[in-house]
Amino acid sequence: MLILGIESSCDETAASVVQTGREVRSNVVWSQIAAHQPYGGVVPEIASRAHLDAMEPVVRAAMHEAAIDWDDLDAIAVTHGPGLASSLLMGVTAARALGLRIGKPVYGIHHLAAHCYSVFLDPDFPGPDRCGPLLVLLVTGGNTQLLRITQMGEATLLGQTLDDAVGEALDKGATLMGLGYPGGPAIEKASQGGDPTRYDFPRGLKGASDVTIAGLLRERCFSFSGLKTALRYRIQGDPACLDATELPHVAASYQEAAFDALLDRVARVWPDAACERLVLVGGVARNQRLRAKLDALSARTGMPWHATPPAYCTDNAAMIAGLAGALCMQGKTPPLASDVYPSLPLAFSSEH
Ligand code: KG4
Repeated sequence: MLILGIESSCDETAASVVQTGREVRSNVVWSQIAAHQPYGGVVPEIASRAHLDAMEPVVRAAMHEAAIDWDDLDAIAVTHGPGLASSLLMGVTAARALGLRIGKPVYGIHHLAAHCYSVFLDPDFPGPDRCGPLLVLLVTGGNTQLLRITQMGEATLLGQTLDDAVGEALDKGATLMGLGYPGGPAIEKASQGGDPTRYDFPRGLKGASDVTIAGLLRERCFSFSGLKTALRYRIQGDPACLDATELPHVAASYQEAAFDALLDRVARVWPDAACERLVLVGGVARNQRLRAKLDALSARTGMPWHATPPAYCTDNAAMIAGLAGALCMQGKTPPLASDVYPSLPLAFSSEH
């Protein structure tokens, strides 16, 4: 089963060929970071135009790298939500046109479900059919969620952010610190040699609580908007904290507060989650400090954990083709609807 995946939900144009849901034959990602950098964030109109320019060469490069012909493909899979409407439209339109031209089916894939699946692209990780329930910490630029996944597609939402996503908090924090876009890697770099305990930033919603918010236990939810505000006030009150000598400490302390909040919830949820292990997915999962902190938590609690390989953490099409392949092998053909879905929800079970 050979599937061509296409991803264009935000600021990466990506195409990939994946065999039998797990073997990545090619993985081409064209990042638009340089185009958006002057604006400090993604500009949707620039993104969709850049997707239009990059789509054909990126798809051709993925086919070339995989060394296959169009006829060898079984299907095309494309992200149809969530994401920026005008960006999603570029990928979906390209996939539809290509499907018509080469006479292959086109499947629609949920971007966040694909992030959750991305861990299975690691050949060292057991396949989805040999895995028990997983506790997934999904940390991207737009989402921060804790999910219990039993089989592909069967997800229970346990907790999520009530305001900013952790990636968003890093991106906005980096802007305040003058570190540029994207903020996560910029903060990670700036924090090298910094003391993460030097500045005290808030760990939002920390502590036990049996209050529920929108059906979710508050103690399993996240809040990062106060962290960002605390940084703003810190800089306003003490501009010298951004001097070359202090900046590494501020960056390290800010990053530490964000990751402590993530780990606090994981530690709280893990004992009752009845899961085989924790998996870390999404762009922020590339962060080495976050991985080191999970190593330490695992050593303390015995919680096994595994992260998606770095190449498949940030947006990519291998996770799209991989999930589509895995679903097809289960006899499911994920339908592509007639539109794109900027706010497409994951199909959660009712047990919150
Ligand atoms: O998964 P992703 O590529 O896009 C979404 O689906 O949102 O995640 C992008 C996010 C951005 O917020 C970016 O700053 C963050 O991932 N990120 C990182 C690192 N690399 C990317 N955050 C922390 N450390 C990193 N090394």
